Amino acid sequence: MVCQLTLLLLLFPGLAFQLLPGNGEPWKAPPEADALVDPLANDPKAVQKGQKIFTSLCWTCHGMSGKGDGPNAEALKVHPADLGSASVQAQTNGAIYWKITHGRGEMASYEQVISREQRWAVAHYLRSLKHAAE
Ligand code: HEC
Repeated sequence: MVCQLTLLLLLFPGLAFQLLPGNGEPWKAPPEADALVDPLANDPKAVQKGQKIFTSLCWTCHGMSGKGDGPNAEALKVHPADLGSASVQAQTNGAIYWKITHGRGEMASYEQVISREQRWAVAHYLRSLKHAAE
């Protein structure tokens, strides 16, 4: 069985992607992420700091307004959710921070890329992308 799977993967490399986690299943952070203590809860500059990060590292896929329409979005196999949508905005800062920290599939882990504080800051910034009507 393992042997057959290896052969299949050799013949169809695209299959490996299908077998990886993150191929369109809803992405849920573990419950403990909700309990993480937000170090920037009282930092009035958090949104501003997060904006700098988003507009340098994240917009290429997520788009400037977070709708998932960045220049690299077309090449993605999994389309990221609209970051201003209710489904994302209903998540806690801790859950969003956890996703940015760990990544999934085509969304890289940012743990080694930006500091812990920067990851919290960008979670704060995502709040400002919330759609007014929701
Ligand atoms: C290479 C393209 C790419 C870049 C760059 C990128 N993302 Fe993502 N992002 C994705 C994809 C694809 C998903 C959907 C992943 C999945 O569901 O498996 C995603 C999902 C997310 C989610 C989860 C949304 C949900 O459904 O709950 C958040 C939050 C997020 N990204 C934030 C960020 C932030 C913040 C940055 C910059 C630090 C960033 N992303 C950079 C591609 C990217």
